[in-house]
Amino acid sequence: MPKATKVAKTAKAHFFCSGCGNEESRWFGRCPSCGAWNTAAEAPATAPATGGAAAGRGPRARWVPKPGAAGGLPGAATGPRPLAQVEVSATHRWPSGLRELDRVLGGGVMPGSLVLVGGDPGIGKSTLMLQLAETLAAAGRRVLYVSGEESVEQVRLRAGRLGPIPESLLILAETDLEAVLEAAAQVQPDVLVADSIQTLARADLEGGPGSVSQVRECALALLHYAKGSSAAVFLVGHVTKEGSVAGPRVLEHMVDAVLYLEGERYQHYRVLRAAKNRFGSTNELGVYEMTDGGLREVANPSLAFLSERRGVEPGTAVVASLEGTRPLLVEVQALVATSFYGTPQRVTSGFDQRRLALLLAVLERRVGLRLGRHDVFVAVTGGLTLDEPGTDLGLALAVASSYRSRPVLEGTLAVGEVSLSGELRRVSRIEARVREAAALGFKRAAVPAMQAADARTEGIEVVPVATVREAIAELLGAKVEVRPPDGPVAGAPRRDAPAKPGGRP
Ligand code: TYD
Ligand code: MG
Repeated sequence: MPKATKVAKTAKAHFFCSGCGNEESRWFGRCPSCGAWNTAAEAPATAPATGGAAAGRGPRARWVPKPGAAGGLPGAATGPRPLAQVEVSATHRWPSGLRELDRVLGGGVMPGSLVLVGGDPGIGKSTLMLQLAETLAAAGRRVLYVSGEESVEQVRLRAGRLGPIPESLLILAETDLEAVLEAAAQVQPDVLVADSIQTLARADLEGGPGSVSQVRECALALLHYAKGSSAAVFLVGHVTKEGSVAGPRVLEHMVDAVLYLEGERYQHYRVLRAAKNRFGSTNELGVYEMTDGGLREVANPSLAFLSERRGVEPGTAVVASLEGTRPLLVEVQALVATSFYGTPQRVTSGFDQRRLALLLAVLERRVGLRLGRHDVFVAVTGGLTLDEPGTDLGLALAVASSYRSRPVLEGTLAVGEVSLSGELRRVSRIEARVREAAALGFKRAAVPAMQAADARTEGIEVVPVATVREAIAELLGAKVEVRPPDGPVAGAPRRDAPAKPGGRP
């Protein structure tokens, strides 16, 4: 790229972190802003080298829509005026019909907004957008779905599986931004979906599709389009790990809302959350289930993350994780088994490994569980990731329960952050968590002793516990024998008979 080198000599900053969009004047191995490695991507600086320090930061329109055509920020030309005199047309949102999505957006799709939908490849972004396109079109909106990744036939096949395809849903397979904008000017859609922003490119810019500068400039052009035309524009952005393709974080500052679709690829629950929202709160979270017919909303998410048989097996506990404003009850499972290797294994799924190590150390030193010769496996149901300290106590309880073969008392919620001394620290919004458990018919909630008064809720017993040790003493039921698998086992009528190796049918 000889041209890029030329730019490099004149422009000020020209290396971008493709992870977070941070701009540096020199190449870096590790991004000073977000700490990611190998994410430096070379690109022309944000602003032409005018020398001004301020010019280097923030989005700058270098692509300006033709006058008259849809584009340009509304009211941009009128200069300063009293804010109070700015007329506000009653901005009514369009309910999309996808209730969870509407809630995360703050009550529906906002005309003229630019929304970024990010997530790992294959998580279901295209599916969600296509479903949105179908429901909005069915409600009479004109929707233009631009696919840069899949052919028109592929999208048609998928759309057919998701539901009836309304007439006002238009599809365009295109990767050239100008062509997309031209089509949009012609069609004048109410809603435009660009799937994905990383496949769009402007021919007059350096760098291939997906480079930081292309992604930024294309998003900027679509921002102008959204503001000028009052169309709601959705950008799909893949979260990427390498530096070659810019991730959605590069765009976070310029869009109105950022939604992330998360979940484990091979498990069927998907969580939609807002990382930024100019039209609503960022705390809301939507839960979907991936089915043959696309994403289906889960009406009661707490129920979804609880298994049906609760509290009967040792090693399971229920925690309340605060996901935004919404507390989510989630079941955690632990299995403690004698280790056959010199170094016992600690395997987690959906829970931080180091956090588990800390909890195991607390259990060993403060409670006296001898876990040093045991493998410990930990799993969170539904593919959710728990990264909130309020879930500590439940996890510790699950491990202790498995180790002692004593189930946690049925209908128990455990909330509390565990400190190194084994004491329980206070957690935020305790009352919301306990209320959720009460609503789902739980019998008792173990909470940090110092928060017992705040936690008091009708219909549920609040058990104040000061330490992990106390929680384990109070919340585990009677020991259960480890029985052979159910069903008649020939020649093994006695329960206490030693298990025969290889004796399974
Ligand atoms: P997709 O929306 O293509 O993911 P993204 O756009 O985020 O890359 O979803 C891909 C996965 O979803 C794919 O593995 C198949 C699955 N899927 C279903 O299970 N059911 C469906 O109805 C659809 C359309 C997809
Ligand atoms: Mg896709």
